[in-house]
Amino acid sequence: MRCVDRTHKSGQGDAAAGIDGHDGWMSIDPHDTFPAGFFRRTDESPDDRFYVPDRLLTHIDDRAIAAVGALYTELGLTGGVLDIMSSWISHFESPPEELVVLGMNEHELASNQVAAERVVHDLNVDPRLPFEDGRFDAVTCCVSVDYLVRPIDVFADVLRVLRPGGVFVCTFSNRCFPTKAVQGWLANSEPARCRIVAEYFRRCGGWTEPTVQLRTPEGTRGDPLYAVWAFSEPEPAG
Ligand SMILES: C[S@@+](CC[C@H](N)C(=O)[O-])C[C@H]1O[C@@H](n2cnc3c(N)ncnc32)[C@H](O)[C@@H]1O
Repeated sequence: MRCVDRTHKSGQGDAAAGIDGHDGWMSIDPHDTFPAGFFRRTDESPDDRFYVPDRLLTHIDDRAIAAVGALYTELGLTGGVLDIMSSWISHFESPPEELVVLGMNEHELASNQVAAERVVHDLNVDPRLPFEDGRFDAVTCCVSVDYLVRPIDVFADVLRVLRPGGVFVCTFSNRCFPTKAVQGWLANSEPARCRIVAEYFRRCGGWTEPTVQLRTPEGTRGDPLYAVWAFSEPEPAG
């Protein structure tokens, strides 16, 4: 996705005219607005190698998993739900009517008992989701947003597959596969990571102002669970 920077519209003099062949409209890749190297990773090899071994385990502790499920219940995630960067569990307290899971490991996805449909798809190779526009009521991404090298493209396509008013919920803790997480994630504190995910929503556009919450009690033992979510804004009238 490339965003059009409307600050470079006409009326800024001749210097802006004709740049990029768009009569003064410049096209900006929002990922380039993050610091240099932000989206690089220690392990730049294709993700499908790293995710070959089945990991039929949990990546956060039971309390954090319960916090994910409680948030999904609180937000009323029902109907058609897409769980991206998914594995064998999707953490719902009560399963939605139709759960579609998308991830890297076929066997892990096959082991997801709640899923109605399973899709192996590398979002770092192709950030477009193989689903029609407006198909889902909600999209979830649990403990995985830190692995995306073009997150804003993915957020833009999540917006496309959501119905207007649908919600995208990102949850994460303080654990990760460090060689596969982007440098900008590793270099930042937990509160800053919340701001980073909120910025992905804002720089994508088309979302309501994101809500950011720590969903586990502050200052307690165990894995913290952070959540950042926003709703697809309705199309402007006219
Ligand atoms: C830490 S696990 C989290 C799994 C699951 N969401 C959970 O809550 O347990 C990271 C997941 O991200 C998925 N993933 C990693 N890189 C991916 C990519 N490039 N495209 C799609 N999924 C990816 C992997 O399949 C893996 O299941």
